[in-house]
Amino acid sequence: MEPYEREALEAVTTRPVHPYRTLTVERITPVLGAEVSGVDLSKEIPAEQLDEIRITFLDHHVLVFRDQTITVEDHKRFAAAFGELRPVNPPPEGDPYILEIRTTSAAANVAGNGWHADGTADTEPSLGSMLYITEIPEPGCGGDTLFANMHLAYEMLSPAMRSLLDPLTAVHDGAQALGNYTPPADYVIPKGEHPLVARHPETDRKLLYVNKAYTSRISQLSAQESQALLDMLFDTIACRPILHCRVRWTPGTLVLWDNRCVQHHATYDYYPYTRYGQRVAINGGPVKG
Ligand code: SIN
Repeated sequence: MEPYEREALEAVTTRPVHPYRTLTVERITPVLGAEVSGVDLSKEIPAEQLDEIRITFLDHHVLVFRDQTITVEDHKRFAAAFGELRPVNPPPEGDPYILEIRTTSAAANVAGNGWHADGTADTEPSLGSMLYITEIPEPGCGGDTLFANMHLAYEMLSPAMRSLLDPLTAVHDGAQALGNYTPPADYVIPKGEHPLVARHPETDRKLLYVNKAYTSRISQLSAQESQALLDMLFDTIACRPILHCRVRWTPGTLVLWDNRCVQHHATYDYYPYTRYGQRVAINGGPVKG
């Protein structure tokens, strides 16, 4: 490991631990994710506990709440504690804020089966997403979700690479993420341009803001240069386990992740079995450079 990589890692692993009064917080890895217990999401969450959940969200970026039995209204109430709810695009038939994540053996597409953050092609991408899984594949496992820490992805790059990336911007194109999925005729494909190195709006910490699903082009470079640099960055995100944590679902687990600084990848290792959950997303603002 290079000295700058050690330094970046040490800053994360030795960060101070908050003394929580109303929660138990257990890290998943030293760099990403935490299992949070002591919370009942089917009830109105007391203000002090909500404040502590917000602190731990900024600290760990991926929060796992197990053994929850919640209604759609409970789910939306918890999401609304973090910001305005984000309507599903294209609008679903039922509740406009509930995205059903359903995989059956007949599914032509598996949602989220590749590294991405939600909604980055929008001019104002999503703040975060909350996925509540109620049905897991029949073997009792499979369908784990992987997450990657984009602060650390940036901080572990060499100083020379960080200086090259800092002033750049990149286009995020919803068309690239469609693959072989044909959207409804009235779906307006989103496209936006964002800083390649962004700052978290709440902590001001820098992070790498490109993802393989949506980022199509670095604006200031030639097509060939852009592709080479993006491929290197996508490989860095996908191939460095040090950046990752992995959540194994059990029925009744709700996971909240921060789309501003984390990418995720749903693993499709359970064909022909079924997995089902519902996701609510939270609106964010413009990406800060
Ligand atoms: C997604 O939001 O991309 C789906 C994640 C998952 O199904 O685990």
